[in-house]
Amino acid sequence: MRVLVTGGAGFIGANFVRQTLTERPDVQVTVLDKLTYAGSRGSLAGLDVELVEGDVADRDVVDPLVAQADVVVHFAAESHNDNSLNDPWPFVHTNIVGTFTVLEAVRRHGTRLHHISTDEVYGDLELDDPAKFTATTPYNPSSPYSSTKAGSDMLVRAWVRSFGVAATLSNCSNNYGPYQHIEKFIPRQITNVLDGRRPKLYGAGLNVRDWIHVADHNAAVWDIIDRGQVGRTYLIGADGEMSNKAVVELVLELLGKDPGDYDHVADRPGHDLRYAIDSRPLREELGWEPRFHDFRAGLADTIEWYRTNEAWWRPQKDAVEAKYAATGQ
Ligand code: NAD
Ligand code: DAU
Repeated sequence: MRVLVTGGAGFIGANFVRQTLTERPDVQVTVLDKLTYAGSRGSLAGLDVELVEGDVADRDVVDPLVAQADVVVHFAAESHNDNSLNDPWPFVHTNIVGTFTVLEAVRRHGTRLHHISTDEVYGDLELDDPAKFTATTPYNPSSPYSSTKAGSDMLVRAWVRSFGVAATLSNCSNNYGPYQHIEKFIPRQITNVLDGRRPKLYGAGLNVRDWIHVADHNAAVWDIIDRGQVGRTYLIGADGEMSNKAVVELVLELLGKDPGDYDHVADRPGHDLRYAIDSRPLREELGWEPRFHDFRAGLADTIEWYRTNEAWWRPQKDAVEAKYAATGQ
């Protein structure tokens, strides 16, 4: 099987490629990645993959790659909410025009597509709301990032219905694990502590995220490719709700520091309060179960990865912190 992975040099995509090559020796992988600030050749170092550097919104690049593939797994996106507040255009370009470009290519060539999306398309929940997001929750995105991901989902659904494109969709909650860019919450706090800086918590830190290990996300993606129903949306989550404050305190504790040793900084404008996923259809229909049940153990492994892979993140650290300092964060 030949798989084209868009965005395969980013966090989740690179983990997907690594997992695929380990667990599926019959799969040949080609990565299409623009190698933006978020993509890194180093995340694919030593792997037997073809890496094509190019823009997923460029038809001339995308078309011949899709023509050669049996399956396209579409991870490529601008993915960070804070960046989308500072400069929304790259989000419209990559998330909307890029997905359109992929859809037109799979339509021309009859190629199977799996589209990777996010729980943020559903907006947010109150802290005490007993409901969780399901595949029928109305879309209500808050940020330029989540609205462009919502737009990309709508394009995929329309191409399935109007043109018979063979696509599935998944909307996953917050991932953690190795190779995540240090602009994101967990790696930022880990590398802050490793670097002798204090962790930075937005606002009061009461916002809740539903954490899942990246390996569990990617295992679910393969289950959907293998056994999912074309046209369906599957929500992926591992019942990992935790407040940001609790996560920061756990990072500090696992690194042997005082759990209160962090700063409250300016909140994110429009900050979503809580995400929570109901993943029962994925579990009951496709038999998926998360393997990383213990967040504390998964976080400890992730901390160890950043400790031993400083060469991977160090070159970006000062610039990332300078950018946050400019917004008071
Ligand atoms: P990331 O920012 O780490 O990686 C994105 C990758 O896409 C990078 O390698 C980047 O170079 C590439 N890219 C960006 N623009 C491109 C373009 N125009 N053409 C080609 N490549 C381009 O993101 P991530 O966290 O790995 O997220 C991957 C996907 O998963 C995204 O679609 C995101 O919306 C979704 N998602 C992420 C999470 C999470 O917690 N990180 C959760 C749910 C869903
Ligand atoms: O829910 C899935 C989404 O999770 C994905 O679609 C996104 O691509 C991914 O970036 C992530 O979005 P969040 O905005 O939830 O993730 P982020 O890591 O930016 O922030 C997590 C929480 O931590 C959020 O409530 C903001 C807060 N935060 C973030 C940073 C960077 C802080 O308190 N301090 C920080 O320094």
